[in-house]
Amino acid sequence: MTRFSSANRFRFQFSISKYAFWWCLFFIVLLCFVSNHLLLSDNDRRLLRNRGKGWEQRVLSSASPRSSTGSTVLVTGAAGFIGSHVSAALRNRGDGVVGLDNFNNYYDVSLKHDRRAMLESSGVFIVDGDINDQVLLKKLFSIVQFTHVMHLAAQAGVRYAMKNPASYIDSNLSGFVNLLEVCKEAKPQPAIIWASSSSVYGLNSKVPFSETDRTDQPASLYAATKKAGEEIAHSYNHIYGLSITGLRFFTVYGPWGRPDMAYFFFTKDILQGNSIRIFEGGKGGVVARDFTYIDDIVKGCLAALDTAEKSTGSGGKKMRPAQLRVYNLGNTSPVEVGSLVSILERLLKVKARRVATPMPRNGDVMYTHANISLAEKELGYKPTTDLRSGLEKFVKWYLTYYNQSTVN
Ligand SMILES: NC(=O)c1ccc[n+]([C@@H]2O[C@H](COP(=O)([O-])OP(=O)(O)OC[C@H]3O[C@@H](n4cnc5c(N)ncnc54)[C@H](O)[C@@H]3O)[C@@H](O)[C@H]2O)c1
Repeated sequence: MTRFSSANRFRFQFSISKYAFWWCLFFIVLLCFVSNHLLLSDNDRRLLRNRGKGWEQRVLSSASPRSSTGSTVLVTGAAGFIGSHVSAALRNRGDGVVGLDNFNNYYDVSLKHDRRAMLESSGVFIVDGDINDQVLLKKLFSIVQFTHVMHLAAQAGVRYAMKNPASYIDSNLSGFVNLLEVCKEAKPQPAIIWASSSSVYGLNSKVPFSETDRTDQPASLYAATKKAGEEIAHSYNHIYGLSITGLRFFTVYGPWGRPDMAYFFFTKDILQGNSIRIFEGGKGGVVARDFTYIDDIVKGCLAALDTAEKSTGSGGKKMRPAQLRVYNLGNTSPVEVGSLVSILERLLKVKARRVATPMPRNGDVMYTHANISLAEKELGYKPTTDLRSGLEKFVKWYLTYYNQSTVN
C-alpha cells in the first residue's frame, strides 16, 4: 500500500513538473514574440534593419578621418541639399563623416537617394534614421566619438507649414531637443553647428539684417521653429556647456538643390512651357532675396566647424562656460525675383510665361538682405559667386540630371 502510493505520488509530481515545464516554455516563447513584434517601435525596427550585417563596420569606416588631425562629424540631413554638399566637402578634405537622414517625402525622394549614392561613392555612409530616435543616436555615439555634429536635418520650406505644421514641430523642435539631449550626455560632448535661417528676421524692416536685429516677429511657423531653436540652443549651452553655433542661411541655391524652391521649379516650369507666378509687393514694393550659392554656404559651414571651440561639459555636467555663436551666411546682394527669372530665360533660351500676382500671406517675407560682416571677421567668410554664375552651374546640372537640352 505504502509502495503503491509513493509510486503514484512520484508519477503525479513528474506529470506536474512536465506540465509546468511546457507552460514555462510557452510563456517564454510568447514573451519573446510580444517583445519583438508588439513592443518594438517603428524606430527600433528601423534600427534593427539598419544594423544588419556589417552596419557598425560601415559606420566606423565612414567615421574614420583620413588624416590624424581630421574631425569626426555626424551630419544630420546628409541626404538633403546642403547636407550632401557639406558632407562631400568634409570628406574631400579628409574628415570622417557619418550621415543621418530619414529620407522623408517632402520632395522627390529619388533625388535624396541619388545624393546618397553620390556620397557613398566617396566613402560617406548615410544611416537611414530619424533624429527623434534616441536608441539610434545613442548607438551611433557609442560606436563613434564624434568631435562635431553638423545639424542640417529639418523640415524646411515656409509655405508647407500651412499644410503640415506637425512636421515642423517633429523635426525642428522635438528632433533638435532629442539630438541635444544625446549630445549633452556624450563623453566627450561634441561641438554643434546647426542650421538656423534668415527667416528668423521675419517682419524686421531694418536692412541689411544683422545678428543683433530683433528676431521676435516670425512670419511663419517655420521661422518660429528656427527662432525657438536658437533659444533652445542657448539653454543647452547655458546648462550643459555645449558649444553651439547657429548659421542663418539666406536662400541657398545650386546643383542638387531643392525642388520646392522658386529657382528650381521656375526652371522646370519654363522648360515645360507652364506659366510662372511672380509675387509682387503692394504699393510698388519689391520682392527680392539674398540668393547665396551653395559653395559659399559650404565654405561658411566648414569655417564655423573649424573655429568651433570644444564643448566644456561631459556626461551631462557643465564644467565651465562654453562658446555660443550665431552668424548670417548670405551673399549681401539681394536680387528681385523678376531678375532671377530673366537670368533663367537667358540660360535656358526660353521665354517665361510670367504672371504677376500680389504676394499672398503665406509666410513669405518681401525682402532679405544679409549683413555678413560678423561672419567675415570671425569665420573669414567671403561669398564669391554672383547669381548669374551660380544659376549657370545650377542650370547645367539640371539639364544633365533630368536629361534635357535647351531649346535653341
Ligand atoms: N536651402 C535654404 O535656402 C535654407 C535657408 C535657410 C535655412 N535652411 C536650413 O538648412 C538646413 C538644410 O536645408 P536644405 O535646403 O538642405 O533642406 P533639405 O530638405 O534638402 O534637407 C533636410 C534633410 O533633412 C532630412 N530630415 C528632415 N527631418 C528629419 C528628421 N526628423 N530626421 C532625420 N532627417 C530629417 C530630410 O530628409 C532632408 O534630406 C535645414 O535646417 C533648413 O531649415 C536652408
